[in-house]
Amino acid sequence: MLTVTAASLAGGQGKTTSCFFLARALASRGYRVLMVDADPQSSLTLYLGHEVEPNQPTLLEVLKKQVAVEDGIYESSYKNLWLIPSDDALEAIQDYLSSIAMGELALRRRLKEVSDLFDVCIVDSPPQRSQICLTSVVAADELLIPAEASSKGLHSLVRTLQLVDELKAVEAFSGSILGILPFRDRWFGRTQAKRSSVSIQDMREVGQGIRVFHSINESERYKQAIDR
Ligand SMILES: Nc1ncnc2c1ncn2[C@@H]1O[C@H](COP(=O)(O)OP(=O)(O)OP(=O)(O)O)[C@@H](O)[C@H]1O
Ligand SMILES: [Mg+2]
Repeated sequence: MLTVTAASLAGGQGKTTSCFFLARALASRGYRVLMVDADPQSSLTLYLGHEVEPNQPTLLEVLKKQVAVEDGIYESSYKNLWLIPSDDALEAIQDYLSSIAMGELALRRRLKEVSDLFDVCIVDSPPQRSQICLTSVVAADELLIPAEASSKGLHSLVRTLQLVDELKAVEAFSGSILGILPFRDRWFGRTQAKRSSVSIQDMREVGQGIRVFHSINESERYKQAIDR
């Protein structure tokens, strides 16, 4: 099983959106995909239309080892796509992860137990540099960094790359960076907004050789669809 984590240390950078569509694209091509919602905001769980019932195990119980990992995995309404959901109770994991030794390895270790059941695991992480963010990044074989095509996005990218460097320095992160995904690239007809082109160019410079993927364009229709 290959684990891909989407991480970016600011809100609204496209982590959940890219996880959702990457997972659906892979699942529709026949890969068995496990999604992990590692954000207490639980947007991914919501996007998948999954309702967490009281007393049903979520990522919280999986990370705390209160249940077998399989017991926290649910079928989604999409073929080949499964989910370990979360809800806002996941916030409680922060204290737990900082109280145990090697808390940052918690997710990686638990996912190993189901690695024969799936081809790909996609982890959606929270925007804050928290324990749950660290364990999500450390779980990754490949890290995807979505970043809004703006100065905020550039800043988020810089902070995320710093985090990766820090984790590499203590040998906690052994994966690689899959690439930077510019998000909400704004165009007016055939003209790209200056803000977008400048920040994507800056991302190339900051990334120093890291692949910069084709950007996701800003779309009013998509925003309206999500709101609905
Ligand atoms: N192509 C698009 N055009 C415009 N808006 C978009 C597009 N794709 C996603 N969005 C919107 O951008 C917002 C941020 O996206 P998303 O939730 O994926 O970011 P995030 O990094 O997961 O945010 P958070 O850090 O809060 O978890 C969402 O409201 C989403 O609906
Ligand atoms: Mg999100």
